[in-house]
Amino acid sequence: MNTLVEKINTLKREKNAVILAHCYQNVEVDEVADFVGDSLYLSRKAKETNADIIVFAGVSFMAETAKLLSPDKKVLLPRLEAGCFMANMINIESLREFRAKYPNVPAVCYVNSTAAIKAECDVCCTSSNALNVVKNLCAKKGINEVLFLPDTYLGKWVEAQLGGAVKVHTYNGFCPTHLRLRAEDMEKSRSEHPNSKILAHPECHHTVSALADFVGSTKDIMEYVKNTDFKEYTIATEKGVFDRLQRDYKDKTFYLLKDTLVCQNMKWNTLDDIYNSLLREEHEITLDRETSEKAMACINNMFEITKPLTTTGGR
Ligand code: 13P
Ligand code: SF4
Repeated sequence: MNTLVEKINTLKREKNAVILAHCYQNVEVDEVADFVGDSLYLSRKAKETNADIIVFAGVSFMAETAKLLSPDKKVLLPRLEAGCFMANMINIESLREFRAKYPNVPAVCYVNSTAAIKAECDVCCTSSNALNVVKNLCAKKGINEVLFLPDTYLGKWVEAQLGGAVKVHTYNGFCPTHLRLRAEDMEKSRSEHPNSKILAHPECHHTVSALADFVGSTKDIMEYVKNTDFKEYTIATEKGVFDRLQRDYKDKTFYLLKDTLVCQNMKWNTLDDIYNSLLREEHEITLDRETSEKAMACINNMFEITKPLTTTGGR
């Protein structure tokens, strides 16, 4: 076995640590990860773990979310440079300006945002549950409009799925990685691989999503591959998803729709960085109490609003 992997695993045992890795990470990170998945899955794991230390192999908003969910644990981000371009497109000032345009309309905040932004919003969501969050929020409050931030495309995708029943006012943020895809790329790929199913993330531009065979979150895309038996799939999201699918389904053929579908920030963490982070216990995520309490309320509202309805038994 790779000695660095062994050293990390030894340190993990000694320090009672777990490593959570987003599936956009360099694929080598999976060798030391306890849990690998999308934002929603990892946020649940951060909440459940009994470890003393969480090393978050992802970007900073994900490590912050883990800290919110596990406030008594030490949460480490191996590389401080690992931010999210989209999350950085909104700040308190621009959020307040946006909210001021639509007084009294609740704000749904994509998990790809800082804790400070979540603290000023009503309900959080991830790409896996955005549709349910908006639908349930409107049903619960008897409203038909919401604010959605920072991603304009995920917000508009949700609006389209609801068939116009809800007006989703979106902030003008976007993911530069997913926006590298253009409709022409979809058409080219379709003509090169006519039998391949194109699977796209809802952060893609709507003209791209419109040409996909399936649009869903990271988890949904992975489940689609698991639950279908087509021979070819074209991945229209970050390369980490393609790498893992190719590794895990040897009997299927995968194409990455464009080779620039790489989130540079997600690729900062190497095994060396993870080792050093655990060894030196850096870089620790800290959040002030007021921000934490308010941001946590926003996240708890997401868990609450997406809770399956418990049916009362009959006599
Ligand atoms: P997921 O919520 O699908 O994990 O996506 C996170 C992300 O950063 C997408 O670009
Ligand atoms: Fe942020 Fe886009 Fe990277 Fe996801 S892929 S972390 S949204 S910049």
